[in-house]
Amino acid sequence: MWAYCLWQAAHFIVYTGAMLASTINQWSVITIVLSGIALIIGVYFIGRGNRTQHMRFMLLASALATLFLVLYLTRLGLGYEKKYAGPAEWKPAYYALLVSHIILAAANLPLALGALFWARKGLQAAGSLDRVDQVPAARAAFDTHKRWTRWTVPVWLYVAITGWVIYVVLEQYGQVMTR
Ligand code: HEM
Repeated sequence: MWAYCLWQAAHFIVYTGAMLASTINQWSVITIVLSGIALIIGVYFIGRGNRTQHMRFMLLASALATLFLVLYLTRLGLGYEKKYAGPAEWKPAYYALLVSHIILAAANLPLALGALFWARKGLQAAGSLDRVDQVPAARAAFDTHKRWTRWTVPVWLYVAITGWVIYVVLEQYGQVMTR
């Protein structure tokens, strides 16, 4: 009787753990895609000279990307992993995409932090977004901010788009690995 109860409890824990990890996996892709959309909107606003809306959307994009990182690490901690089990001829292309995605996702963290650091420094020097061009130290900080974003924006977009592609491929051809 006890053995049976223990067996059922263990089964329940493993089952709900896998369900939880799968839900976390879904939410992590949702957050990274939303962060990419917020990024595009933020870039659109700075293109139109709207600094306040630019700042808001970039902070939203950063918060969503942070949430993604938390969900991703939680999923890894739960030991949930999906392996490609689709057509063999697509395997090299899939792994090339996966490796480039992982490398650039790791690079995106310091790139985003660098862009945010210089934006914060510029904002502190200016006191307000309206005074960026009047305060030389703020102008210099935002010029550095712009140089960082030349790399940050394309890398971030690549990571968001490939993250979604990988998710879609694994929904179709993925096999859940249990550790
Ligand atoms: C990681 C997040 C961010 C990214 C990826 C980003 C991206 C960009 C991009 C692409 C530009 C246009 C660069 C160009 O014209 O060549 C820009 C400019 C600018 N950003 Fe950000 N941004 C971020 C966060 C912020 C934040 C939080 C603020 C507010 C404090 C801010 C304030 C500005 C300002 C004021 C400019 C205009 C600089 C100028 O006068 O030309 N950005 N940013």
